[in-house]
Amino acid sequence: MRDLKLYSRIFLLTDEQVAMCCLPVVFSKVACELHLPQMADAPTLVLPAGEQHKNLASVQQIWDFLFAHQATRSDLLVNIGGGVICDMGGFAASTYMRGMAYANIPTTLLAMVDAATGGKTGIDYTPSPHSPSSSLSPFTLKNAIGVFAEPVATIIRPELLSTLPSEQLLSGWAEMLKHALLQGREPFAELIDFDMQQITSPAFGELIRQSIAFKQSVTQQDPHDKGLRQILNLGHTVGHAIEALLIERSQQSNIPHPTSPKPHGYCVMYGLVAEAYLSHAICGLPAEVVCALSRMMCQYYGAAPISCKDFEPLVQHMLHDKKNTQQGCITCTLLEDIGRPLTAQAVTIAQLREALEYLCSL
Ligand SMILES: NC(=O)c1ccc[n+]([C@@H]2O[C@H](COP(=O)([O-])OP(=O)(O)OC[C@H]3O[C@@H](n4cnc5c(N)ncnc54)[C@H](O)[C@@H]3O)[C@@H](O)[C@H]2O)c1
Ligand SMILES: [Zn+2]
Repeated sequence: MRDLKLYSRIFLLTDEQVAMCCLPVVFSKVACELHLPQMADAPTLVLPAGEQHKNLASVQQIWDFLFAHQATRSDLLVNIGGGVICDMGGFAASTYMRGMAYANIPTTLLAMVDAATGGKTGIDYTPSPHSPSSSLSPFTLKNAIGVFAEPVATIIRPELLSTLPSEQLLSGWAEMLKHALLQGREPFAELIDFDMQQITSPAFGELIRQSIAFKQSVTQQDPHDKGLRQILNLGHTVGHAIEALLIERSQQSNIPHPTSPKPHGYCVMYGLVAEAYLSHAICGLPAEVVCALSRMMCQYYGAAPISCKDFEPLVQHMLHDKKNTQQGCITCTLLEDIGRPLTAQAVTIAQLREALEYLCSL
């Protein structure tokens, strides 16, 4: 982590919700700990909250803000917020004047353990009305525009989570479970036994640190997503298909920027259960792991919001997801045991249906 005092000036980027919930703590505590008392007086851009604002118009606002303040490449942009702010601020900074430094202070659990680490930055893409592809693909493509650019620092302060709604906490928890499943039996047991009421305790801070360290170890070995990083797709083949289906359902109600009614991590949890079932059937993952995940899902996340009439569209989503297909068949990251992932495992449509049936039976 680079010493943040080395930058000439600091600019802050956040969203409206985080400005209300977290900025007072950031200014009163985090700024002091970082020896950056000037943070409280730093020029600050506050954007509206939510994935629907993760777009070029917001990036334009960030560039306008930086130009208006005559920011230079010796300055620093500090992103304070969830994954949306960290992804978008990272992208705007790394393209401003061919790249200024940025740091992240993630304020959601998902951003702490996932989005703020690994150097992927970017925004969602919606074709303009003039685009030849707008009639082919009128919908928004998530994270389709971006660059790989590492933050100069990521500052983790679990106390910022105290204002986070429980749904958002569970969303990040699912990504932590994914990391633990990939990592090994001990981290998985620790996480599954953890009392979620204790999220501001030092013990939880330690679990967050372990989860981040695991993601860092994977992304450092494969910074540009050419191979090993694929293990991080665990739970996401089925999870992304469920998320896309929920977004489509909300699109039918004609809202201009449809979003999933379930946070991303909920869909990951459903995906982890379905893919654990596949892992048991195809690679011999012990059945007790499938049971432990299923219990966790039922207790905290509730039943997956899908039924057998959704199987066909879900399979179609998976078949059309380029990340998960090889010559027309669906491939997933599966587990032969906790801590032993296998990437690019071919799954038949019949096996997938069986896994979805299992998920729906819970
Ligand atoms: N770059 C990566 O590798 C990577 C990895 C995973 C996810 N992502 C991206 O992350 C985004 C999702 O991130 P997210 O789940 O953090 O969503 P988010 O940034 O939209 O935050 C969720 C909501 O919580 C609010 N919030 C944030 N911190 C809060 C706090 N401490 N107290 C109260 N409210 C708070 C936000 O204002 C927002 O309304 C997606 O766009 C996804 O594509 C990126
Ligand atoms: Zn995810």
